[in-house]
Amino acid sequence: MTLPDHPSLDDYRGQISEMAAQGLAAIGDAPDLDALEAARVAYLGDRRGRMLEFQRALGAIARDAKPEAGRLFNTVKRQLESALDERRARLGRGAGGYTPPADLTMPARPQWTGARHPVTLVIEEIAAIFRELGFTIALGPEVETEWYNFGALNFPANHPAMDLHDTLYVQDDVLLRTHTSPVQVRTLQRFAPPIRILAPGNVYRRDFFDASHAPMFAQIEGLCVDEGVSFVDLKATLGHFARRFFGSTRARFRPSYFPFTEPSAEMDVECRLCRGAGCAACKGTGWMEILGSGMVHPAVLEAAGVDSEKYTGWAFGMGPARIAMQRYGVTDIRVFYDSDVRFLEQIAE
Ligand code: PHE
Repeated sequence: MTLPDHPSLDDYRGQISEMAAQGLAAIGDAPDLDALEAARVAYLGDRRGRMLEFQRALGAIARDAKPEAGRLFNTVKRQLESALDERRARLGRGAGGYTPPADLTMPARPQWTGARHPVTLVIEEIAAIFRELGFTIALGPEVETEWYNFGALNFPANHPAMDLHDTLYVQDDVLLRTHTSPVQVRTLQRFAPPIRILAPGNVYRRDFFDASHAPMFAQIEGLCVDEGVSFVDLKATLGHFARRFFGSTRARFRPSYFPFTEPSAEMDVECRLCRGAGCAACKGTGWMEILGSGMVHPAVLEAAGVDSEKYTGWAFGMGPARIAMQRYGVTDIRVFYDSDVRFLEQIAE
């Protein structure tokens, strides 16, 4: 039976249901996969399948009948296809059917596993070294008051660092801490000496985002306060740290200035990226600054309620991302903050 040149909806419906019934029977009765394939070609094949005739007829059917005829066509096509899938699955499993065995030589799908960030790894390694020396971990808030961030740390009023240019203010005298040093003050207020703490955490500055600066970065603060503590302890402890962390790398102290320490010193390690020859990461100097340090200023001890006649102390603040650059041979600090897993998965453990 063939369709007239311009079929009515009734013609179309009648004939497509008849064809569907035959097709479903052929598929359902197919005794094996070869017969099933023959049924598929006969009804759904691209070249001579019987569905093609009904597809072509859609073009010739009266306009107002077209949507309904199109729906019929789609329904029948879906019925035939799912009957085919069902029959194929049944025959495949049955006695005469053939299921290809799993290909055991196929490469496995890679598994994604979580891992710690390289800066976190460095922080943990640093904390482990100081833990051996009796330091414990202290934490403080990232949203701080101006007093903890600056005032108690002996910044003179109107110090340029307090300027909007460097500091991200939340409210009048509430800000995102620009360093971890406020944890010194909070710790001294809560605990009586002897004190030995390490305070890792994030800090914020309105810095430009360039190869060695980020607007948010991690710092690790260290503080040691007791009777009779001197600069010798500072230098010996930080020297010990550099040897433990970097191995035989050379380290040096340079005089520096911070309002909250006196005297103050910065510690550099020989740049591992160029072995001291000078490169872009160390700005050609051959040295990489990794921390600021100094003897806690008596004014800081007094602001926190500690007797500065009886106690002395030293403190440092270091940048674990800078240290991670050295450890992992990374020349641009931004890759640590980009969250690009292609980079991170090379280092993460
Ligand atoms: N807080 C200083 C900074 O952010 C570092 C520092 C900490 C210096 C402790 C001395 C003592 O640069």
